[in-house]
Amino acid sequence: MAKVVSFSNQKGGVGKTTSCVNIAAQIAKKGKKVLMIDMDPQGNATSGLGISKSKIKRTTYDVIIGRCDIKDAIIISNFKNLSVVPANIDLAGAEFELHDLDENLNFTQIALDSVKEDYDYIFIDCPPSLGMLTVKALSISDGVVIPMQCEFYSLEGMSQLLNTVKKIRSLYNPGLQIVGILLTMYNGRLTLTGQVVAELKKYYADKLFKVPISRTVRISEAPGYGEPICYHDPYGKGSLEYAAVAKELMMRI
Ligand SMILES: Nc1ncnc2c1ncn2[C@@H]1O[C@H](COP(=O)(O)OP(=O)(O)OP(=O)(O)O)[C@@H](O)[C@H]1O
Ligand SMILES: [Mg+2]
Repeated sequence: MAKVVSFSNQKGGVGKTTSCVNIAAQIAKKGKKVLMIDMDPQGNATSGLGISKSKIKRTTYDVIIGRCDIKDAIIISNFKNLSVVPANIDLAGAEFELHDLDENLNFTQIALDSVKEDYDYIFIDCPPSLGMLTVKALSISDGVVIPMQCEFYSLEGMSQLLNTVKKIRSLYNPGLQIVGILLTMYNGRLTLTGQVVAELKKYYADKLFKVPISRTVRISEAPGYGEPICYHDPYGKGSLEYAAVAKELMMRI
């Protein structure tokens, strides 16, 4: 039965999609079967795997409103053991259209349950908000990975996000686990980085992934080639770091 893990942080541009795509691809390359669900209307996780957003016929949107079977929306990617339910801007409508949370939670939950036996991991790439799509994703997840940058506002955002996790636990999903906090675009030479890490260690030491992800050009250029870093630059620093995080994630959940 697949473990379901959301990559979430309401702050934009912190490395959610990059981490989701690269950890998913890494785990899949090692032999596990992985499904990635793109839950962001920006569709970055879709294009990051080299899938053209204009060509996709069925998307996460169709699945969560119950318009199509998830199995008909799944695209097998060009990468070993990795499939994706793609998204595009259609999904933006879902935030407004789906007011009856219970009903649409069911569609998504039913969809997920119907494919859980086919995969080892299901990763959900969340949008940069704490809106309906994120609430839905967290409500059906076993765990959440929180990517964050080492900046002051990230610490403020973290407490908001952890409050949301608490609310989701009490309302919908008591088993929701915080798999870990992942430091992204890390530059250990900056004084601020050291200060933020010290602060994080004070409160969340056991939650921090051991290896941070460095800021590298190779990681940022990989989506332009439609390739996860473990294919784009398999022996580079970014790839090795994501491999270490993937390994730790599998031990944690
Ligand atoms: N380790 C890294 N080194 C260099 N660039 C990175 C790294 N991680 C992410 N980036 C770049 O930072 C930008 C934001 O990353 P990403 O899209 O993964 O963030 P996000 O949290 O998913 O954003 P959004 O909130 O818009 O969904 C992208 O251009 C990405 O290529
Ligand atoms: Mg993203």
